[in-house]
Amino acid sequence: MKYSCFALLLLFFITLHTAPNIAVIGTGYVGLVTGPGLAEFGNQVTCADIDQNKIERLQQGEIPIYEPGLEELVQHNVQQNRLKFTHDVGAAIEEADIIFIAVGTPMGSDGNADLKYVQSVLKTISEHMNGFKIIVIKSTVPVGTGRWASYVLQNLGVQPDQFTMVSNPEFLREGSSVPDFLKPDRIVIGAESEQAHTTMNEIYSYAFAHDAQQINTNIETSELIKYASNAFLAVKLSFINEIANICDATGAQVDTVAHAMGMDHRISDKFLNPGPGFGGSCFPKDSQALICLAQKNGIHVPVVQASLTTNQIQKVKPIEKLKELLRAKKLNAKTVAVLGLAFKANTDDIRYSPSIDVIRILLEEYAQVKAYDPKAMDNMKHEMPNINYCDSIAEAVKDVDGVIIMTEWPEFKDLLDYIKYKKNKPVIVDTRNILDTKELKNAGFTYATMGNGTNQN
Ligand code: UDX
Ligand code: UDX
Repeated sequence: MKYSCFALLLLFFITLHTAPNIAVIGTGYVGLVTGPGLAEFGNQVTCADIDQNKIERLQQGEIPIYEPGLEELVQHNVQQNRLKFTHDVGAAIEEADIIFIAVGTPMGSDGNADLKYVQSVLKTISEHMNGFKIIVIKSTVPVGTGRWASYVLQNLGVQPDQFTMVSNPEFLREGSSVPDFLKPDRIVIGAESEQAHTTMNEIYSYAFAHDAQQINTNIETSELIKYASNAFLAVKLSFINEIANICDATGAQVDTVAHAMGMDHRISDKFLNPGPGFGGSCFPKDSQALICLAQKNGIHVPVVQASLTTNQIQKVKPIEKLKELLRAKKLNAKTVAVLGLAFKANTDDIRYSPSIDVIRILLEEYAQVKAYDPKAMDNMKHEMPNINYCDSIAEAVKDVDGVIIMTEWPEFKDLLDYIKYKKNKPVIVDTRNILDTKELKNAGFTYATMGNGTNQN
């Protein structure tokens, strides 16, 4: 029965050549790229969100997050009448043939992904079922969630032949989400039936025509591909951070080590930049969720666990290096500039940002903190209201004892222009290895990098 409904729906699309109507529920960092991206592929898309203020801003053409290229992508598809925004989630569901769930799945108190928002959307879907729907979980969810969601819908009175569940995880990096969506390495579709795969491949046909690789599999495999990919990238980052720490102790140069490692195509040269630890709404949360999943099944995953342990250690390194350079056990009499507040450059997202850990320690030691970030200051002010936010690099580094570079914004590479003529030069901790160490040394700075050497005057 279920598949005959489905086959009819498919026939409808194919014979009338009408593209299926798509609803994307949740217009956050994931949904707000997914919706316009699917529209760019030629689909008819409605993005819906419970946050009325966010929707009103979007309807006025305002983009509530910083994401390069997103404003143009939204504008183009609104103008082409392929994309619209609504606060009426129910109506969007009723009009849709395919519903993408792209709401938050934050880490819960037990370390597992919290599915309360997904459950809330499932409830709304159950209240607005008016025909056969394909329900796609785009959010990162633990393995087994697709099956769980089917049970939830049926327990809410939705007939099993009225829907089919699909897993379609995202692989978007904040700051490059738009190109990552429009030109993905691969598109993973986990589904229960061939027909579901066919319809989903239809809506992504533009991407497949432009070299995206296709993975059609079952729901559980699709869900695990996402966690396995993120957890592996986190392991790779913790590994290069450990190598950087060995370089610090031995005088080896981590940039050259990473460059030579990357020449081995089995390793690749990507994700080998040491830093102050990884942050963001994905790696910490997804690695922890994978650990929980393994533990629930009685499986020990020390490698994944170790990546998180190393990451916590790495987040303290900038403070350790600052103290070494200042020859200070405590920082209470010091003024420190923190350049970069988001978890990385090219985003305004501060979730799990290492800068939060660094600033917290500075405040605990009663240091004076002057902070600057080109995009993330409004978000950080909600999280840490009692530090001195500066409007420019020049203001932030004026009259400070130390400068810590926490993200790789291009403008931070010009730091020396603001301080090289100062009589009392601040010490510099470059956690992203973006400064020219020869220039630092020639200008007489005391500095530390992550595995590319230090210069203790
Ligand atoms: C996050 C994680 O980053 C990502 O890894 C995971 O796959 C999904 O959750 P993100 O887009 O960053 O994705 O979430 P967030 O920025 O919190 O946006 C979620 C949006 O959903 C918000 O705009 C919120 O208002 C909306 N929402 C939430 C609904 O529309 N309905 C709900 O019931 C709950
Ligand atoms: C990540 C995954 O890359 C993406 O595929 C997934 O969909 C969501 O999670 P994101 O967290 O947005 O994307 O950013 P990413 O560029 O991966 O950086 C994650 C963290 O690793 C950041 O804190 C970044 O500073 C750090 N990082 C990244 C490094 O320290 N060194 C690197 O070489 C790369």
